[in-house]
Amino acid sequence: MRTQVGIVGAGPSGLLLSHLLHLRGIESVVVEIRSRRYCETRIRAGVLEQGTVDLLSASGVGARMAREGLVHHGIVLRFGGRDHRIDLSGLTGGRTITVYGQHEVVKDLIAARLNAGGDLFFEVQDVEVLDVDTPAPRIRFGRAGTAEELRCDFIAGCDGFHGVCRPAVPPGVLTAYEHAFPLAWLGILAQVPPASEELIYSSHDRGFALLSMRSPELSRLYLQCAPDEDMNGWPDKRIWDELRRRFERDDAWTLRDGPVLQKGITAMRSFVVAPMQYERLFLVGDAAHIVPPTGAKGLNLAAADVMVLTRALEAFYATGRTDRLARYSEVCLRRVWKVQRFSWWMTSMLHRSNDGEFFDRLHRAELDYITGSRAASTALAENYVGLPFDDD
Ligand code: FAD
Ligand code: PHB
Repeated sequence: MRTQVGIVGAGPSGLLLSHLLHLRGIESVVVEIRSRRYCETRIRAGVLEQGTVDLLSASGVGARMAREGLVHHGIVLRFGGRDHRIDLSGLTGGRTITVYGQHEVVKDLIAARLNAGGDLFFEVQDVEVLDVDTPAPRIRFGRAGTAEELRCDFIAGCDGFHGVCRPAVPPGVLTAYEHAFPLAWLGILAQVPPASEELIYSSHDRGFALLSMRSPELSRLYLQCAPDEDMNGWPDKRIWDELRRRFERDDAWTLRDGPVLQKGITAMRSFVVAPMQYERLFLVGDAAHIVPPTGAKGLNLAAADVMVLTRALEAFYATGRTDRLARYSEVCLRRVWKVQRFSWWMTSMLHRSNDGEFFDRLHRAELDYITGSRAASTALAENYVGLPFDDD
């Protein structure tokens, strides 16, 4: 088999890249180790920046999102028993965020690729990327018991943090920068209408909690926990009791419970690899960087990488220009580090730390400052709705 761009991974990065390339007349093939059903039901991120929404809409995959997505104009920071609303739209000239599950974006992109006759191979095995330092890189994989080989001009490593593309780069080329937070989130998806119209980020002495949602009937809730927390120690009743305590407010506000449909623990880590390219292999999304989820940025950052790579490949195939491809990593990393900074800052400010009372008091002062100063609220809001694309 032969294609122009071989894409490893059918997460949001790989699917969006394949879709945008198709719209520009560039061929691609996507290989994915998991089943289509698995990709379409994996619950992960939920908040889309305005720029991500605009990109999906402008590329013709925004119709269901426009019907079912929940547009939010603000978020709530809860601390000291009180709510402090950050007016995202008012502080950013009318920008909004949209709550629409990552798996819904994935479903829409898979449908669009298949309707356009795109090649998506699910449930492949033993994926290997070869010859990326030559003009003819290859992806080798097994499909239904047969060994296949895909020859390409370029390979996009969209295979997430645990994929095979980043490790395929020879030793000494990449530098990894990382920070493991001594905390994690226990997340649940529950069949109960969200207790608030807007997301609530609650900073409490017992630890951080977040109220989010997936639809008017489904709540998504998170609790700060230890990275090695044992899920068996958390029967549903204990989760709801702990959530109620961490969301307590001075008045009678309360959280209703309901059946828990899914639960899981997500470790918090910050990770960046540089450069995000080696010869004809480009690392995209979680394959190149991970942010802690507190700023709701992982998926949005992946979409930003995809946009930069799409434009660079478009320039290459239209005119033979390679300068944009050569600048891919540099352009992406500028945004990546700004988003790392924001995600680290939100995480440090909102979570109960192990660093002692001094730091907890500093974080409380920071929350007071952020919610009391228009300049500081604006800094939070402009990062939360998404920094502008700066492409060169
Ligand atoms: P992924 O979504 O990881 O997709 C990579 C794809 O590659 C997967 O489909 C995988 O099966 C496939 N793959 C892996 N190895 C191979 C291989 N060898 N060959 C072929 N295919 C392969 N972000 C938020 O903003 N908010 C959240 O609440 C949030 N929660 C998260 C919870 C978890 C458990 C995780 C892991 C991430 C979460 N994130 C969250 C981050 C966000 O989901 C990611 O940033 C986003 O999924 C990145 O998309 P991606 O396509 O780059 O990578
Ligand atoms: C989610 O809805 O899953 C979500 C929302 C906001 C975050 C992280 C996760 O900061």
